[in-house]
This record gives sequence, C-alpha cells and structure tokens, in this order.
Amino acid sequence: MPVITFANTKGGAGKTTAALILAAELARCGARVTILDADPQHWITHWHEISGKVPNIEVISHVTMASIQTHISENKARTDYFIIDLAGARNTLMATAIGLSDHVMIPVQGCAMDAKGGAQVLELLCHLHEKAGIRINHSVVLTRVNSLVTTRALQVVKQLLSERAVPVLDTPIIERAAFRDIFDCGGTLQTMDESRVSNLDKARENARAFADEVRKLVPLRLVNRARRAA
Ligand SMILES: Nc1ncnc2c1ncn2[C@@H]1O[C@H](COP(=O)(O)OP(=O)(O)OP(=O)(O)O)[C@@H](O)[C@H]1O
Ligand SMILES: [Mg+2]
Repeated sequence: MPVITFANTKGGAGKTTAALILAAELARCGARVTILDADPQHWITHWHEISGKVPNIEVISHVTMASIQTHISENKARTDYFIIDLAGARNTLMATAIGLSDHVMIPVQGCAMDAKGGAQVLELLCHLHEKAGIRINHSVVLTRVNSLVTTRALQVVKQLLSERAVPVLDTPIIERAAFRDIFDCGGTLQTMDESRVSNLDKARENARAFADEVRKLVPLRLVNRARRAA
C-alpha cells in the first residue's frame, strides 16, 4: 500500500486538485484509495461530504502530526494507495508526511513556472538523502497547463528541469473546467454531466494518462522503508 504525497509549500499550486484526480482515477480502476486530508481548507473532505459514497474511496479528515502514522497503520489492510494532501506551507507535518511516502508528487504550475515552493520540497528531499540516507522518489507534475501550450513549449520546461536532475512526469495536468467544477458538484469525472461541462472527455483522458503514469512509477507492491520498520 504505497503512500503518495502531494507537496508544494506554495499555496494554490494545484496539490488538492491533482490529489483528487489521481485518487478518483485509481479508484475507478479498482484500487482501494484512502485520502488523508491534511489541507486546512479541507476541500477533499468537503468534496466527499457532498459526493456521498464513492466506490473505493475513503477520506480521513483532520490529519495531524500526531495522528498521521496511526491513520496509515490502522488502514493499511483495507487500502491499496494512500494519498496525502498537504497544506501549502512548510511545516513539520509536511516533513513527516514526506518521510512516510513512497513517492512525493510536486505540482508546479506549468505556465507561471513559479517553482519556488516546489524547490523547497526538493531541498527537503535532498536534505533527507544527504543527512539521513533516506531516498524518497519524487516527481514534479506540471499543473494548470494551458491547453494551447504547445508540446514544444512543454518540452522546453521539462528539459530545463531535467538539466537540474529533477524528474518530471510526461503527463501535465491541463487547466480544465471539469477539474475545478468537481469540487462544487461532487462525484467524479465519470458522474459529471457531459452537456454541462466543457471538454469533459479531454479531462477524463488527461486524468487517465496521469494515473497510468503514476501507477507505473508507484506500483502497488512498494513499501517505504521507515514504515516497514514501524
Ligand atoms: N488543472 C486545473 N484546472 C482548473 N483549475 C485548477 C486546476 N488545478 C487547480 N485548479 C484551481 O486552482 C486553484 C488552486 O488549486 P488547488 O486548491 O488544487 O491548489 P493547492 O495547491 O491545493 O492549494 P493550497 O496550497 O491552498 O491547498 C483552485 O481554485 C483550483 O480549482
Ligand atoms: Mg490544497
């Protein structure tokens, strides 16, 4: 039961949206997903409340430094993937969640390229590796990418990051009304009304490609060393 954490110390980078898209897509494909909602804005908890029962998804709210590890150990028998949504802040909960993770996803807004908050997460990962010998896999995921941005422009951004040895997912998350509206309507991309949401098919396809890539990077059998010892 791998743990995937979404982290970027900058508010509004797209963590919560990417976390929910991934959770819903993994659940749609049959994985049992537990979301640990550590975002003080509780968007995912609210989404869950208005959605009613969503097959394969459980949401745990009010996750704290003191409780996070217990939530994972108590729910691991009924969970295939844990997904942690963090606050847009640099704090000890972020460090703890990262230490418990098999993979850290760092959403960075593709167009603005304001990567400072992402860089702080990368620094922490580097620090853990150098000082404690703990290596945690991670990837930048470009988010809110304008659908008109050309493949070539995206390649330039990816090239820039790879020159700094930062892994970047091939699939960017595109700016789509469906990804915003899902928090108002509840449910999933599959239950949304095609006649009311523009480009819903493209949003579904984007979510599928994103989750496929994550699944390959974070296969079900992975277990973080620190958790195995606990
Ligand atoms: N792919 C997307 N398409 C459309 N809107 C998006 C997308 N990603 C994020 N947004 C919108 O951008 C805003 C910020 O996104 P989100 O809440 O996911 O960021 P966050 O990193 O979780 O923020 P915080 O640090 O405050 O928790 C929200 O209004 C959200 O609806
Ligand atoms: Mg958030």
